Amino acid sequence: VTRVLSGIQPTGNLHLGNLLGAILRWVRMQDEAPCLFFLADLHSLSDHIPADTRRAQVRSMAAALIASGIDPDKAVLFAQSDVPAHAELCWLLNGTARMGWLHRMTQWKDKSGKNKEGASVALFDYPVLQAADILLYQASHVPVGEDQKQHIELTRDIANKFNLDTGTETFVVPEPFIGGGVAARVMSLRDGSAKMSKSDPSDMSRINLIDSDDEIAAKIRKARTDPESLPGDPDLLKERPEARNLVGIMAAVTGESETAILARFEGQGFGAFKPALADALVAAISPIRSRYEALQGDHAELDRLLDEGAAKANELAAPTLLAAKRALGLGR
Ligand code: TYM
Repeated sequence: VTRVLSGIQPTGNLHLGNLLGAILRWVRMQDEAPCLFFLADLHSLSDHIPADTRRAQVRSMAAALIASGIDPDKAVLFAQSDVPAHAELCWLLNGTARMGWLHRMTQWKDKSGKNKEGASVALFDYPVLQAADILLYQASHVPVGEDQKQHIELTRDIANKFNLDTGTETFVVPEPFIGGGVAARVMSLRDGSAKMSKSDPSDMSRINLIDSDDEIAAKIRKARTDPESLPGDPDLLKERPEARNLVGIMAAVTGESETAILARFEGQGFGAFKPALADALVAAISPIRSRYEALQGDHAELDRLLDEGAAKANELAAPTLLAAKRALGLGR
C-alpha cells in the first residue's frame, strides 16, 4: 500500500453502513499508510441543495469523521472543492472516458431512473470526477463499500486508457479495498435485500451516528427478522438475509467472530439477541456521537483543520495534474 484515498458525500447523516463499510476501516488504515480522506462536496452538486445547507453539511461531516477517529494529524482531511485540481483533472479525463462506460454505471441507471433527459450532466459525469479524485493522488488503495466497486473499476479503465493513449505512465492504477463480512454491504433494517442508505425514505431502515441510545434500541427492536431461532453455524444464515445482517453487524461492532456470537445465542430467538445487539451498538456509537456533538459547533476549529488539509492536498495534487497536462500537450 503506497497511498490510500477515499471520500464521502457530505449530504445527509453518517450511518452505520458508512461507518462499517468505510470510516472505521479508514481509521485503522491511517496508522499504516499515508492516507487522504475528503468530503465530496463537488459530487453533491448533482442534487440541488441551498448554499447554506451545503456549507453546513461539509463542516458537519468533517466533525463526524473526526469524531469517528480520523485524525487530521495522521491523515490529510479536506473538502474536494478546496482543491481545484479535482475539477480540472475531471475535465482532462472527460476526453478519455467513453459514453458507453458511463451508461453502464448502475448508480447512473438507478438515480436517473426513467427521467434521463431531466438528469443533471453532473450525475452522468459523476464517475469521471470520482476517477479524478483517485488518480490525482496516485492512490494505490481505495477503501470503500461494495456499492463503489464499479466506480473504482471504471477508474482503472480510465487510468489504463489514458496511459496507453498518451504512451506515458501518468497514473497509478488503483485497487478497490472492500471490507470482509457485513462491512462490504450493510443491509437495511427493514429489508434484507436493500443496502442501508441515506436516501432510504424510512429512517427506521438505518442507524445514524446522531441517533439517541433510545432511538438505536427502538430501531433494533423493530428491525425485520424471521421467526426461526438462531443456529450455531454462521453458514446456516445464508438464506436468511435479515438475520445474517444483524449477526454480521454484531460481529463488526464487537470485533467478535460470528461463530463466537452464535455459540452464545444458538437455539434462542431474536427476543434474546436484539437487546444484546442494541447494547453493543450503543456502546460503539454513543462515544462517537458525544464527540461529534462537542465538535460540530466549533466552526472556527473545523475551518482551520479543513484549510490545513486543503493546503496539503493542493500540494500533493499539483505534480500529477501537471504530468497529465504535459502528457496531453497542454502548457509550454
Ligand atoms: P457515499 O457518500 O455514498 O458513501 C461513503 C462510503 O460509505 C460506503 N457505504 C457503505 N458500505 C457498506 N454498506 C453500506 N450500506 C454502505 N453505504 C455506504 C460507500 O461504499 C463509501 O465507501 N461516490 C462516493 C464518494 C466518493 C469517493 C470518491 C469514494 C467520491 N469520490 C473517490 C472513493 C474514492 C459515494 O457517494 O460514497
